Amino acid sequence: MYAAVVRSFDSAAKYEMFETPNPDGKHEILVDVVAAGLHPRVRSQANGSHYTSKEELPLIPGIDGVGRLEDGQLVYFVAPDTSFGTFAEKSVVDLRRSVPLPEGADPVQIAAAMNPAMSSWVALCRRVEFQQGQKILILGATGNSGQMAVQIAKLLGASQVIGAGRDQERLHSLPALGADAIVSLVGEPEEVADRLGEAASEVDIVIDYLWGKPAESAMVPLLKRRSDRSRKLSWVQIGSVAGPTAAIPSVALRSANFQVIGSGQGAVSTAGYVAELPALIDAIASGKLNVNAVSFSLSKVEEMWDAPISHEQRVVFIPTK
Ligand SMILES: NC(=O)c1ccc[n+]([C@@H]2O[C@H](COP(=O)([O-])OP(=O)(O)OC[C@H]3O[C@@H](n4cnc5c(N)ncnc54)[C@H](OP(=O)(O)O)[C@@H]3O)[C@@H](O)[C@H]2O)c1
Repeated sequence: MYAAVVRSFDSAAKYEMFETPNPDGKHEILVDVVAAGLHPRVRSQANGSHYTSKEELPLIPGIDGVGRLEDGQLVYFVAPDTSFGTFAEKSVVDLRRSVPLPEGADPVQIAAAMNPAMSSWVALCRRVEFQQGQKILILGATGNSGQMAVQIAKLLGASQVIGAGRDQERLHSLPALGADAIVSLVGEPEEVADRLGEAASEVDIVIDYLWGKPAESAMVPLLKRRSDRSRKLSWVQIGSVAGPTAAIPSVALRSANFQVIGSGQGAVSTAGYVAELPALIDAIASGKLNVNAVSFSLSKVEEMWDAPISHEQRVVFIPTK
């Protein structure tokens, strides 16, 4: 079969012939891959930097996708934890990690949206005791996951959603997705932290795709302005595009009911993720979430790998295009 193949953690995946993987055990079958998204998580899998990396090469990247079963049924699936991912004509599906798509669902939209959407959906449904009417700040709201988080927070019943991000054009497009307020992250760190503190001191939950300095410097200003510091603030760490570490001032944890947790593979079990898939697929397939996808033939994988990364549209590869 043709596949995107990574032979070195330092170079792009290349489109080449590769041995077709074999299903193993009663739950696994081979499917035709219809569409698979190039998520940041796929890039970190392919350069060996993701925390789940086993450093085994060669590997076929791709962590999820839409496949077609022998009887024609389309399924969304999360790839098994092996070196054979979804950027290939065929992929192994563990049926326990797959969900049938409803009639008429667009495979490209599903492949583009599931990973970024799952980040906030699972965080809100599995990691915090989110209640309708609560207020949420999305740090890093201009990326694909952040834009989804704005929409999902609203869909699940948040009363106020504040989106914070750098890119001014995308930041100003967030109200059309449901954001009640926006905060620019452009400027001196103290100035930015102050702005965040002012706009978001009463939120119940922070969904954080940034971490690093922006998270570190925003915590205290946000807590300081809170009208009741004993009201819980849950800070959910999801991505780390601004840095892998953030120093949490001890006073932040003592002087307020402040909880820092994470949401991702490991913090939530595979079964936990799979349980959330049908409702999320329905939300995407029924058009409740705005998805920004662009598709290319998988044969273009090397070119797209090295192209400037778009935070606006999620690239989806189609093996048979
Ligand atoms: N834990 C999970 O379950 C899970 C699931 C999905 C994604 N993630 C992680 O979440 C993060 C975002 O994913 P994504 O899908 O949104 O990626 P994306 O579409 O590529 O967007 C990345 C965003 O990060 C912003 N950014 C990058 N560096 C920044 C910095 N130094 N300061 C402020 N903003 C910065 C970009 O800002 P500009 O708009 O200004 O360019 C862009 O909006 C990634 O780390 C990804 O691995 C985690």
